[in-house]
Amino acid sequence: MRQTQAKRIVLGLTGGIAAYKAAELARLLLKQGVEVQVAMTEAACHFITPATMQALTGRPVLVNQWDAITNGMAHIDTSRAADAIVVAPATADFISKLAHGLADDLLSTLCLARVCPLLVAPAMNKQMWAHAATQRNVVQLERDGVTILGPCSGVQACGEEGMGRMLEAEELALDIVAFLQGSKSLNGGSPTLTLPQGERGSIHKMDGVRILITAGPTYEAIDAVRGITNRSSGKMGYAVARAALELGAQVTLVSGPTALPKPQGAQVVDVTSAAEMFEAVKQHVAGAGIFIGVAAVADYRIAQPSTQKIKKSADKLTLELLPNPDILAYVANLPKPPFCVGFAAESENLHGHAKTKRKAKNIPLLVANLAQQAIGSDENELILFDDTGEHVLPRADKLTLARQLMQHIVMLRTNIKT
Ligand code: C5P
Repeated sequence: MRQTQAKRIVLGLTGGIAAYKAAELARLLLKQGVEVQVAMTEAACHFITPATMQALTGRPVLVNQWDAITNGMAHIDTSRAADAIVVAPATADFISKLAHGLADDLLSTLCLARVCPLLVAPAMNKQMWAHAATQRNVVQLERDGVTILGPCSGVQACGEEGMGRMLEAEELALDIVAFLQGSKSLNGGSPTLTLPQGERGSIHKMDGVRILITAGPTYEAIDAVRGITNRSSGKMGYAVARAALELGAQVTLVSGPTALPKPQGAQVVDVTSAAEMFEAVKQHVAGAGIFIGVAAVADYRIAQPSTQKIKKSADKLTLELLPNPDILAYVANLPKPPFCVGFAAESENLHGHAKTKRKAKNIPLLVANLAQQAIGSDENELILFDDTGEHVLPRADKLTLARQLMQHIVMLRTNIKT
């Protein structure tokens, strides 16, 4: 058990083509230590078989409310045992049922009989999503405290393009785990909150604050097909963006090439090279209260990249490299700089390099980690260096660390103001 402590969800599948994504979703949730009990409507069974879901989760799938059940109260027992019910995909029909409190099959009965939170990931054709009836039903669900995850826009099974596509499994898994860990829904500002008692009131700490974040690697072209890059996955920067969104911040994420889903609610600016990242930062820095440079920016670029592919020859090839601008140093030295946070990935002498770097870059907070532990990994261990000394954030998944980092930033900014 890593990210969540023995959390258990009921994963409900309804009859839409996006049901195939639920198999991957179940797999990703199980990998995160979440127990998954699948419940399917009859219609869902036309798109993916209960056998698939059972094989993946290792638990019998609930379909028919009249099937033999231990005590005949599956709808009560199953929902009582769950920390949340997640319906993914949720068809227009099922959303309508939920909005009206219908309970004519096992899944809808589970939803009505629940005492736990309900998360719904709509999936439907764009006209069905845009229809006034669906929109009315979604608003009703939100009023009832249901968290709506997505949908997003894109190519649909019917060949049309538009809003109504279910979020990708990877993104849903991130949202669900974040939800189970007790944070705010990331549905673009949905009012539904699931913070544990005691943490309520902390989520708006960054309301209205604009945060500019860089993430991922950069890619410096050598020629038309080759380039210099590094092994940064972007996971830490994206986790910082998510944690900032959870606190109510307005997030602009300038991202180098990554394979990660975009954090819902952030303005994402995709760039490739360090020069493009620099331009994007210059364009978006005005009005930012905080700048967090998580990106692994290439220190050098090729002096004269070739527009054509360089042909192989027996001769020695020498590439001339020019230093790239230091984006963080530029922002930190603006006349009225935002609160600047830098990251340092070192392979040795972490403490020494980190302290020197914080001074050299003239920034109030530097986050240091060992490159060999951090790069590409889902987990990390951070040491924060600020004016008061060093603070260790012990090994944890990157989202947990990002949340702790954001809390530290909130505390430092409050101290500066007071
Ligand atoms: O000097 P070093 O590259 O180790 O510094 C790392 C920090 O500086 C990170 O926060 C990184 O995002 C930022 N940086 C930058 N522009 C560069 C190089 C690093 O913003 N050209």
